Amino acid sequence: MAKLWTGRTDGVTSRQADDFNSSIRFDSRLYREDITGSIAHAKMLAKCSILTPGEAETIIEGLCGILSDLETGKLPIDPESEDVHMFVEETLTKRIGDAGKKLHTARSRNDQVALDLRLYLKKEGSAILAQLKDLLAVIAEKAEAGKALILPGYTHLQHAQPITFGHHLAAYAYMFLRDADRIRDALARTDLSPIGSCALAGTTYPTDRAYEAELLGFSGIVPNSIDGVADRDFAIEFLSALAILMMHLSRFSEEIVLWSSSEFGFLQLSDAYTTGSSIMPQKKNPDMAELVRGKTGRVYGDLMAILTVFKGLPLAYNKDMQEDKESVFDACDTVRACLPVFTGMLATAEPKAERMLSAAKEGFLNATDLADYLTKKGMPFRDAYRLSGRLVAEAIREGRSLEALPLETYKSESELFDADLYGEIDLAACVNKRRSAGGTSVSSVEAQLAEIKEKIKNI
Ligand code: ARG
Repeated sequence: MAKLWTGRTDGVTSRQADDFNSSIRFDSRLYREDITGSIAHAKMLAKCSILTPGEAETIIEGLCGILSDLETGKLPIDPESEDVHMFVEETLTKRIGDAGKKLHTARSRNDQVALDLRLYLKKEGSAILAQLKDLLAVIAEKAEAGKALILPGYTHLQHAQPITFGHHLAAYAYMFLRDADRIRDALARTDLSPIGSCALAGTTYPTDRAYEAELLGFSGIVPNSIDGVADRDFAIEFLSALAILMMHLSRFSEEIVLWSSSEFGFLQLSDAYTTGSSIMPQKKNPDMAELVRGKTGRVYGDLMAILTVFKGLPLAYNKDMQEDKESVFDACDTVRACLPVFTGMLATAEPKAERMLSAAKEGFLNATDLADYLTKKGMPFRDAYRLSGRLVAEAIREGRSLEALPLETYKSESELFDADLYGEIDLAACVNKRRSAGGTSVSSVEAQLAEIKEKIKNI
């Protein structure tokens, strides 16, 4: 078929070049945004008397017809089209004749594609925020239910200090709340309309960019037309927010994989979110968590790809920019597939309180509290630290916990020890004494959860 841009050249390109150049196989998913943008464009052109009201009406009717025929499948996407913008315009002209050829007045595919991508990300952003909100609600609920469950807290994956399950989950809640903030922040910068930038330099027509932006629900316009067509920061920022979100999901997934192993046994995943083995009858595998962890790599790759595409591009539009879309689509698709599955997996997972507590009883998690006991009685912390270390070594030799060492053993190290020591190194006491802001005590976690729930409401 003759190219719409036939003129300067005869428009006859090799099949090879056509196939290589065409983006229709992936950008056809922007047809809604493209048609919505074109309807607004026709309205603006009519308002500015660049089109007659009759022409605009014919164009808009034609576009609405194309949209509904695409939605119902009556109109198939033509794989021979160069891209979605050409496809819509060619179909329109086929259907309504000459008026269709006027739609592209005072715009270019360069500002059109930037517009479509911004509209697309605004929509994807809201969908991802809604999914994040659902995940956060489940985390908050599980944290509330588990605010008194004691488990070992780790550093270096070694037993460190006792913490509560609610405290641990609340840490993830804060990460996901920041992810929501980052997405909203990227969306605020996405929320400017580039349409009317035209090829790069603006137009000689008396257009009204602000009106067109308003019709499309943008808060304003990109103030510089070169920037309007050359910039993809909004998409890069969005993908970097998604990459960080996936990093959080991946860390959480890793813990879920560990916790559901027989070595830990802290969490029991529902059968509905696990798989079996084709050969080992006993297996119950945490595939969902592993896949989320694995898919994180894809989203990092998408971010790297788009960053790299743009690093050497002179202003303004270059065809390299066509490569932005697959990265954006893949990152959005991946996050949108991961979030609800992760939420479902977490909602149906059960913490195993006894396993958590018995693990917390091993590994001298209360050794810091032993040292604190002495410092509160006046011993300098470094001395108390060393003395407590000796007592841990003694407990290891005797194969006992610190709680099980007799008072005489303590007294042989320091006269400051008394029977009240046992109350101080009891695991629940260790947890509930940590009432500092942000700490692991039930009361501190309750304060965190109250804040988390407030913030969830504002997503
Ligand atoms: N398919 C192109 C893209 O995705 C649309 C813009 C084409 N503009 C141009 N001057 N060739 O970037």
